[in-house]
Amino acid sequence: MRSVSDSSFLELCMASRTLSVTLENVMATSFKVSGLGGTRSLNGIIEVSGAKNAVLPALAASVMIEGELTLLNVPGIEDVSRMSELLVGIGASVVRDGSSLRINRANTDSSLLKADIAKRLRASVFLSGPLLASYGSVVMPHPGGDVIGVRPIDLFIKGFEKMGAHIVEKDMLYHMSTKGRLKGADIFFPFISVGATETLMMAATIADGTTTLRNAALEPEVVFLAEMLNACGAKISGIGTSVITIEGVAQLSAPQNPIAIIPDRIEAGTYLVLGALCGTSVVVDCCEPRHLEAPIEILRSAGVTIEEEAHRLVVTPPKGVLSSVNIRTHEYPGFATDLQAPMTVLLTQAEGEGVVFETIFEGRLNYVQDLMRMGADITQVGNHRVIVKGPRKLYGKELEGPDIRAGLAYVLAAITAEGESIVHNAYHIDRGYERVEEKLGALGARVERIEV
Ligand code: UD1
Repeated sequence: MRSVSDSSFLELCMASRTLSVTLENVMATSFKVSGLGGTRSLNGIIEVSGAKNAVLPALAASVMIEGELTLLNVPGIEDVSRMSELLVGIGASVVRDGSSLRINRANTDSSLLKADIAKRLRASVFLSGPLLASYGSVVMPHPGGDVIGVRPIDLFIKGFEKMGAHIVEKDMLYHMSTKGRLKGADIFFPFISVGATETLMMAATIADGTTTLRNAALEPEVVFLAEMLNACGAKISGIGTSVITIEGVAQLSAPQNPIAIIPDRIEAGTYLVLGALCGTSVVVDCCEPRHLEAPIEILRSAGVTIEEEAHRLVVTPPKGVLSSVNIRTHEYPGFATDLQAPMTVLLTQAEGEGVVFETIFEGRLNYVQDLMRMGADITQVGNHRVIVKGPRKLYGKELEGPDIRAGLAYVLAAITAEGESIVHNAYHIDRGYERVEEKLGALGARVERIEV
């Protein structure tokens, strides 16, 4: 089958009917995984792609940037295709050449934003800030994305209102507008939000006056975005701290040099877990070890050896069985919620009892029911905690991942298990991970893409 990411973006955006047919086909794709039955045999090098969570806001920012912006190390994932469709839909030119993307906002018009695509993609909300700041108005549906509980956008709305925007919610759409430019404001986030920090930071770059974001997110993707915007002429200080100050400038312009997307720390962390579960020695290449302190520390506590080199990590499991650890998800630099599901799979193979405490999202532990069907001993305590007792043998099953991260965690569980598994809805995995079957295959895992 021809994948969506192989198609040219213009072709993708020609007609919504063609698009929905293509997507239905994509949804019918599954992964067939032959399990290793608890043995460890994977070895070799696995390369990490550019970070999904860095490229999506960068693409959103492109609608504020004059001239041609070139991004390098752009992963070939479905969410990038969806975001590119949104950009093409509002008149931007988006051209992919291998892993680089050239974007030019020259003919954009915010009123053309396609609600059907925006509804499916949580990251579409990032566009609200740049479009509102550049065009003075935008109509957005509530953004879609993963099924990991309620994902409100109240922080975005309150932030825009503080910056002088008028927002009305009508017929499931947010109508946002501003008279003249947005105005600099002092914004305190009552809790940390990556998306709200990024979106308001983008909007503030071309607002009138100075904006201060307090209790801002510290994630490497926020730092990346701020540095990219500064390379385009923005005046952002306090980058990487919880107080970010943005002095509005008249306009942003594409820098002469291309901007390289940082490596995906979630993809890297997931491969570390895979190496710990099923590897003899696995090299996770093209990653940024500085962004992976929490998972490295936790895996080491579980008995895993991880050697750090400049842009790679070498992971070797203990000679005997892994040891249980407790996990509590936390904003960066704490343990990422996006690595919670793969780590829970690891705990099914670790000696003892490990508690997983999900503090960021509601409903992000629903996938444990399927791990239990595979043979895991897991007790759920409320919406936020599970207790995993191990080690327990896992058996291949038919599975359907509820979101990007749990989807790939199922593939890890299936590789660990005895027998064959079918992981349905490969689209969820393709949203965030590039060429998964090929990359895992290079380590010796048998993961095949099939039509069902
Ligand atoms: C980003 C990441 C996602 C990661 C998450 C947390 C991207 C594209 N996605 O998502 O992979 O899991 O950070 O690290 O970068 N919230 C509100 N109101 C708001 C905004 C957020 O209540 O207006 C809540 C959310 O429901 C959640 C918490 O705040 O409970 C944190 O969410 P947030 O950091 O905003 O996540 P995202 O930016 O959506």
